[in-house]
Amino acid sequence: MSYLHEISEPVVEVQDLNMYYGAFKALDSVGMKIAKNRITALIGPSGCGKSTFIRGLNRMHETVPGARIEGKVLLDGEDVYAENVDPVRVRRKVGMVFQKPNPFPTMSIYDNVIAGIKLGRRHKKSELDEIVERTLNQAALWGEVKNKLKDSGMSLSGGQQQRLCIARTLAVEPEVILMDEPASALDPISTQKIEDAIQDLKKSYTVVIVTHNMQQASRVSDYTGFFFIEEMGAPGQLWEFGETERIFSNPKRKETEDYVTGRFG
Ligand SMILES: Nc1ncnc2c1ncn2[C@@H]1O[C@H](COP(=O)(O)OP(=O)(O)OP(=O)(O)O)[C@@H](O)[C@H]1O
Ligand SMILES: [Mg+2]
Repeated sequence: MSYLHEISEPVVEVQDLNMYYGAFKALDSVGMKIAKNRITALIGPSGCGKSTFIRGLNRMHETVPGARIEGKVLLDGEDVYAENVDPVRVRRKVGMVFQKPNPFPTMSIYDNVIAGIKLGRRHKKSELDEIVERTLNQAALWGEVKNKLKDSGMSLSGGQQQRLCIARTLAVEPEVILMDEPASALDPISTQKIEDAIQDLKKSYTVVIVTHNMQQASRVSDYTGFFFIEEMGAPGQLWEFGETERIFSNPKRKETEDYVTGRFG
C-alpha cells in the first residue's frame, strides 16, 4: 500500500525498498516518506523488519555479510545508494542510537561526546566545550554531569549512558537521527527523560524511532509506520503509515488496529 501522499516535504524518501539477508527477503517493497523536523515512529511485531529498515536508511545494512538491498533511499533528493556516494558520509548525515547504550568504555564523558567529531576537522578547545555543553543539554543530561565531565562514561547509569550516546550522535550534526528502541532497557524516569529530549530534538533534527511501547509512539511521534508480516516466512511490509493520531484513533487496516490496541503483538 502507498501512503506517500501524506508528506509533502520529506527529508528522506524511500522507494520500493527490498532488503535481503542472503536468500531471505526481510522487507518487501517499502515506500515511505520521512517528514523534516518531525518524529516518525516505527512499530510492529518482533521480526517484521523495523531494525532492518532503519539500517537501510544509513547504509548499515550492507555491513552485514551477505546482505543486499534493492530500491532507492533519497536523502534530500540524493540517492544514498548511488555509485559515487561515500557510505561514511551517509552515516554522518543519518546518525544512529542503538537499543543498548554503547559509550566508549575507556573514555571520559567529555571525550565520549566529541568522539565522532574528532575524526573530522580540528576544533579549538572552546569550540569543543561549547559542543559538549550544547549536545548534553539537548540530550537532557547536562545538569547531571556538568561537574564530572572527566569521569568515565561507564560511571553513569544505563539511562544516563543512553543520553550520553544521544549527545555523541548529535555532536556530529546529523540531519536525521535513527533510534532503535532507545528506551526499552530503561526505567520509567529515564524513559521520560529520553522522551523529553526527543521532543526537543525535532526543532533541529528529524527523528525516526523504533519502539514496542505504544504509549511512547503515541506520545512522542507525529507520524507512525506500522510494519507487519502477513504469514510466517513472508517478508515484512509497511502495512500502514500516517499521522500518529489517525493511526491510533482510526487505523484503516484491521491488523493495525489489533496491534495498537494490544490485541496481538
Ligand atoms: N543479521 C541478520 N542475518 C540474518 N537475518 C537477519 C539478520 N538481522 C535480522 N534478520 C532477520 O530479518 C527479519 C527482520 O528482523 P529485524 O531485526 O529487522 O526485525 P525487528 O522488526 O527489528 O524485530 P524486533 O522488534 O524483535 O527488534 C527477521 O526475520 C530476522 O530474523
Ligand atoms: Mg529490532
